Amino acid sequence: MTAPASLADALAEVPEVAAWQLVPGNGGDTTLLVAGEPAADRGRGRPGDLAAAVEAVAAGDAVTKSADLSSFPGLMRLLDETALLTTARVLDRARLFRGGASHTAAETVDGLGCVPRHAWIVRRWLRTLVTEQRLEHDSATGRYHSLTAPDRQTYARARRALDDARRGLDYPVSMTRFFLSAADRLALLLQDRTTLQEILFPDGGTDTAEGNYRDSTPSRWVNHAAADLVAAEARRLAGRRPLRILEAGAGVGATTGAVLEALGDTPVDYLFTDVSRFFLLAGREAFGSHTGMRRQILDINADPLTQGFAPASQDVVLAANVLHNARHVGRALAALRELLVPDGLLVLVESCQEHYQALTSMYFLMSPPPGASDDWFTDLRAGQDRVFLSGDEWSRQLDAAGLTPLPVLPGADHPLAAAIGQRVIAGRARPLNDGPDPAAVGSALAARLPPDARPTRIHAVHRIIRPTTTGEIC
Ligand SMILES: C[S@@+](CC[C@H](N)C(=O)[O-])C[C@H]1O[C@@H](n2cnc3c(N)ncnc32)[C@H](O)[C@@H]1O
Repeated sequence: MTAPASLADALAEVPEVAAWQLVPGNGGDTTLLVAGEPAADRGRGRPGDLAAAVEAVAAGDAVTKSADLSSFPGLMRLLDETALLTTARVLDRARLFRGGASHTAAETVDGLGCVPRHAWIVRRWLRTLVTEQRLEHDSATGRYHSLTAPDRQTYARARRALDDARRGLDYPVSMTRFFLSAADRLALLLQDRTTLQEILFPDGGTDTAEGNYRDSTPSRWVNHAAADLVAAEARRLAGRRPLRILEAGAGVGATTGAVLEALGDTPVDYLFTDVSRFFLLAGREAFGSHTGMRRQILDINADPLTQGFAPASQDVVLAANVLHNARHVGRALAALRELLVPDGLLVLVESCQEHYQALTSMYFLMSPPPGASDDWFTDLRAGQDRVFLSGDEWSRQLDAAGLTPLPVLPGADHPLAAAIGQRVIAGRARPLNDGPDPAAVGSALAARLPPDARPTRIHAVHRIIRPTTTGEIC
């Protein structure tokens, strides 16, 4: 038998593989996702899942019942408007569009001295300003021109209004300081002469991040709804053993705290993980005395098994505001699913809506690492200058990875849904009996390809999702 020339040729000789995708990793490693012919019946989750979702909404509502939700859309608009005016002001102060000058996006990036990893943020500014009719774009030449920047008084008014919005949304006062401080340092942020981490964690303090991810009304809603899903899972499995939870990107532990509170005295084996040692130390301080808490580094962009995590070892995998950091969400979900027991529960908190306020703040946490170019995402977001997935996109991603999605919470008719865009997304791991067996695919490739042509890891998935040319939430 002559050896196949490529991975594609080799996979063509494995009849169980109907579709595949090779996902490049960070350090030269590669992950192969393989799917069989899609089965007609994908399972419907567990019978109690819908009831658990209804209860989770009630839990979110209960902790936010004192907030005036009707004011939220207006308050969010105020934050968004200030961010938009700030982007116009930075461009104007760089004198890029004065005196009838026009520039392409690349020229604007250069003109601001922006490093390659943040170029996507500048492109988003330009597109957003065009959408909001503060800038014009000539599609024939690709050039932007005629910027409408705010005058001093208008901008000062917008900055003052920010604090009213902050108060109405129950963000702590440090949030206004953070937002304005980031706005004042945008030129430096774009040039990597300072980082958003330095502004968000001044002197290593976590108060501002806690205010954002734990204490604000939107965060309280999603954290408590997510925690309620975990508590329902604990009740379902009651007494079998301590509930095994792995939390990825646990950060300042805003969701961890809500989960531990909802679990009460339920015994847990809780793996508090993050890519950063800084947060493991913060986690030790906050939860070190809780019985059953362990801490470990986990990078969702690398294979969990090579980082010391065991397959089928977790009842629940939780990831709040972290999975959008995955370069390829399909690969990360397949890897996290592998950590779950059959029938295990994945619970995510995600922003499913782009808010302009991120343009001048949180997006700087979501750029590729220093030195990397900005074509970072290799999944359905590739080349789209966006970070977040819509609720429907998450549901499709979960399904493709072999997790039956629960309804996205809160539903579209909830007063918080349109205003905040934060959602709880959960899925129940289901068997992929009809798909290819990764071990058998690995053996087939080993017989056909030299070691350096073989993928580092193989995951079976239900379906392959290819990059698209347009995003849903741009
Ligand atoms: C927005 S914060 C999440 C907040 C956190 N869930 C909380 O409640 O405090 C994002 C977290 O994801 C972590 N993170 C970023 N990239 C990651 C990666 N590749 N793997 C694991 N964690 C990551 C960050 O260190 C940070 O703690």
